[in-house]
Amino acid sequence: MNDAEVLTASAQETIDFAKCFARSLKPGDVLCLEGPLGSGKTTFVKGLAQGLGLKRSERVKSPTFVLMHVYKSKIPLYHFDCYRLSSTEELENIGFEDFVNDAKAISCVEWAGKAKGLIPSHASHIHFEILDAVRRRITVR
Ligand SMILES: Nc1ncnc2c1ncn2[C@@H]1O[C@H](COP(=O)(O)OP(=O)(O)OP(=O)(O)O)[C@@H](O)[C@H]1O
Ligand SMILES: [Mg+2]
Repeated sequence: MNDAEVLTASAQETIDFAKCFARSLKPGDVLCLEGPLGSGKTTFVKGLAQGLGLKRSERVKSPTFVLMHVYKSKIPLYHFDCYRLSSTEELENIGFEDFVNDAKAISCVEWAGKAKGLIPSHASHIHFEILDAVRRRITVR
């Protein structure tokens, strides 16, 4: 995956960028999504799911309360949110390592900093910055 930096001026622009970005993804990829509350991480995942051909991408919502969602897109998409995690043990209990190392799926991890030690070294990191009410800077590394 190539490094990239984009500025988006609406949630729809973030979705469009993610849809386009999804074309560069292959099974086994892991994306760590970092950035403050409301910076657009879940919005980005919604766009990824659309780009991966998920028919009902309105189902993409923050998994804050359930830790994980699975979307049956062409390439299965695992969506984690570690915001409310109190210890990495909770991730171990749901088999997080098996999911993020699944060579047939793509994994997205919001608040991946809380999953330290469990993220594969080949993961890409995407940073979301809030510039103002509607503008975001998205940096891929
Ligand atoms: N340029 C933009 N890109 C993405 N979202 C935007 C943008 N401008 C405004 N928004 C709004 O900001 C909010 C982003 O919410 P979202 O759930 O995607 O954030 P998040 O980073 O996942 O937050 P959390 O850490 O709480 O899960 C949405 O309400 C969205 O409509
Ligand atoms: Mg979110």
